[in-house]
Amino acid sequence: MSAVTVLGLGSMGAALAGAFAGAGHRTTVWNRTAAKAAPLVARGAAHAAGVVDAVAASPLVVACLTTYTATREALEPAAGALAGRTLVTLNSGAPASARDMAAWAAGHGAGFLDGAVKNVPAAVGGPDTLLYYSGDKAAFDEHEATLRALGGDTVHLGAEPDLAALYETAVGGILLPALLGFLQGAALVTARGLEARTLVPYSVKWLEMIGSVLPALAEEIDTGDYTEPASAIELFHASLDEERRLGDEAPVDVSWQAPMHDLIERAVAAGHGEHSISALIEMIRTG
Ligand SMILES: NC(=O)c1ccc[n+]([C@@H]2O[C@H](COP(=O)([O-])OP(=O)(O)OC[C@H]3O[C@@H](n4cnc5c(N)ncnc54)[C@H](OP(=O)(O)O)[C@@H]3O)[C@@H](O)[C@H]2O)c1
Repeated sequence: MSAVTVLGLGSMGAALAGAFAGAGHRTTVWNRTAAKAAPLVARGAAHAAGVVDAVAASPLVVACLTTYTATREALEPAAGALAGRTLVTLNSGAPASARDMAAWAAGHGAGFLDGAVKNVPAAVGGPDTLLYYSGDKAAFDEHEATLRALGGDTVHLGAEPDLAALYETAVGGILLPALLGFLQGAALVTARGLEARTLVPYSVKWLEMIGSVLPALAEEIDTGDYTEPASAIELFHASLDEERRLGDEAPVDVSWQAPMHDLIERAVAAGHGEHSISALIEMIRTG
């Protein structure tokens, strides 16, 4: 078992520290608001009163603050203690910010991995929980066994430090449209006096279906061949008027769909009507 420090004990940081401590790693915790350390100390973690002591306590330092800016602010007083250690940042953020963070860590002599927890805090430590990392491969290899305490599906995406942030942003973009679709559906059925929970099993099956078609859509995008569609853009285009009428069905605001409808209309105007729905990417790309 190895030593690890967790900086930031919000919802996610506390879950990370709990998983390390639960797996038997010698875990040191630090949080700006010190009181949040108490539940972790009760689980066997050591509490460092200051960020310098926290960084000095372990060769592996995992930071889970809100943003890269907050992480830099918090770590600045301990920058001199980072040399020879591995810093892992597990906050959300843009690839450019991850590159800046990597340069800052390198400037202080630290190995650097940026990562993302692709799940909720309650799932941290689960055998299927996905976390991906990018950056210093030697540092990943050295600490992989310890990092696996956070989730069984632990992946190193590559040596470029911004890859995890890139994939975090790319995959994360699926969330809000999917949730908005569910919320619109819930608004429709509840307007009819039906409960939202009646929608859940069918929505889950629908999401599974969406997952099942992604490999074929990705293949079309990677080859640039949209000419053998399972679902053509014209099919979606044909139902736009019906979709717009949803707002007449119930007092439901469907205006969030307008930009998607616009994409479909522009794709048909550009000659993609007979092409696969994946050809919408040609409308999304701007260069
Ligand atoms: N929660 C989730 O479901 C989830 C899922 C996946 C990824 N994430 C990512 O995990 C990261 C942390 O999320 P969270 O849910 O743990 O957030 P949170 O509960 O709001 O906690 C934020 C943490 O950041 C600290 N912090 C913020 N600004 C700081 C500063 N300037 N100096 C020092 N400490 C500072 C807070 O310290 P104080 O306690 O002193 O305020 C706290 O420990 C985010 O980037 C989030 O996107 C979260």
